[in-house]
Amino acid sequence: MIITIEKLIFEGYGLGHVDGKAIFVRKSVPGDELEVETVNIKKNYDEAIIRKIIKPSTKRITPRCPYFDICGGCDHQNISYTDQLKFKDQIIDEMIEQNQIETGERLPIIPGSDSEYFYRNSIRFEFVTRLVDPHTATYEVAAPVSIQIARHNYLDPAKPVITDFCLLQSEFSNELCQSILDLYNNYGVPDNRKLLVDNHLWQIKIREGKQTGEFMLEMITKSSTLPMERGLKDLVKAFPEIKSFYHTIAPDKNIYKLKRRLLAGKPVIYEKIGKYTFQISPESFFQTNSLGVQTLYDQIKNFADIQMGDRVVDLFCGTGSIAIYLSTLAKSVIGVEIVPEAIRDAKDNAKINKISNVEFHCFDVSKLNNETMWQYSNAILVLDPPRAGLKPELIKKICKCDPKRIVYVSCNPATFFRDIKVFNKYGLGLTKLQPIDMFPQTHHIELVGLLATTR
Ligand SMILES: C[S@@+](CC[C@H](N)C(=O)[O-])C[C@H]1O[C@@H](n2cnc3c(N)ncnc32)[C@H](O)[C@@H]1O
Repeated sequence: MIITIEKLIFEGYGLGHVDGKAIFVRKSVPGDELEVETVNIKKNYDEAIIRKIIKPSTKRITPRCPYFDICGGCDHQNISYTDQLKFKDQIIDEMIEQNQIETGERLPIIPGSDSEYFYRNSIRFEFVTRLVDPHTATYEVAAPVSIQIARHNYLDPAKPVITDFCLLQSEFSNELCQSILDLYNNYGVPDNRKLLVDNHLWQIKIREGKQTGEFMLEMITKSSTLPMERGLKDLVKAFPEIKSFYHTIAPDKNIYKLKRRLLAGKPVIYEKIGKYTFQISPESFFQTNSLGVQTLYDQIKNFADIQMGDRVVDLFCGTGSIAIYLSTLAKSVIGVEIVPEAIRDAKDNAKINKISNVEFHCFDVSKLNNETMWQYSNAILVLDPPRAGLKPELIKKICKCDPKRIVYVSCNPATFFRDIKVFNKYGLGLTKLQPIDMFPQTHHIELVGLLATTR
């Protein structure tokens, strides 16, 4: 089927039409003439993959990563960064129009990342095995098997993308992964390496303090034992940058039932945002682009417009980073978060930064009762929920408590605009909207919205 890509839409797809039906094509560029194959038929659109580029768009550039065409990590490396920003801004404009949202002052998208590559402070790879020579060797004859690391293959999840690097993470993380693979690949007979991955090794996770140079390594296994634990401990000693080393056990690959053993170093690593230092535990959420997050937090501060004596409430506060960032002028700041380890980090972070006007509570925000919400009346509320956004009942409670203003921070424009419509029902509307691009090469867009009463 031949298709011309008309524009980019959210989630990294290009949009074209065939016989009036919308066709979504990942990794395509507006203006591309493509031969595509349908892989998923839906009621209102089909999903297709590129088979051949018949005529490339004038906007198409050569991606820097050789795995770009199959790896599920990046979406837009084949478009210049200037054009990525323009397309992302157009996507937001269209979503505003489709949802018929009054945005007040709609500010143009700004880049929020210091760097177009190597900006991620957290990365996960999966262990896989492969035959050294798949043409001549078979598993039955004990083929030489090597352990590799891989990322998600968006074309065929059953065939992960075997890689030895990712251009969004730091050079050090790439080097560390390679050393771990060397260790395992020099271990035992090749056949056992397949068993090692089938029965034990699952993932490597690396987190990094970009401003502090501190790294946390997590070796994640399905079993309660970590193969070559002693060898890994020796390896970690050779990398003084690794300040924290965990063995994480995920029986049945269930990420909600993790157990951790600290094998070396300290339980946390540190990162800086602006003048503040933050401790990060393996369980806690921390913004993935820590060099860019200051742009996001400055925007939140700007919209919050805190005056002497204001009370601030940071719902979904994670490790307390926004609460602490906004604490300077406020009379008091309350942070609420569901993950106990994140709240422990938040309380420690307040101490580390010598901030005494913040308090943190471990609580499920959706269970806040009217009485507690009432205490937030006339406060400045900051909402930074996960991608799923806010539940309508919570929005109702928030609106009832009559906050002074609300700053809504979102990493998912679809749920953001859905939620804004619910706020509108209760008499609150957007007065300012700022899109920020924190994640170059990907489809992600952050939104910061200022909401005030429109009654
Ligand atoms: C997008 S993160 C924001 C974290 C923080 N504001 C920051 O900038 O680092 C969302 C946070 O909401 C927390 N969370 C998710 N569901 C929650 C709930 N029902 N109640 C409270 N916190 C929740 C998550 O654990 C996560 O830390």
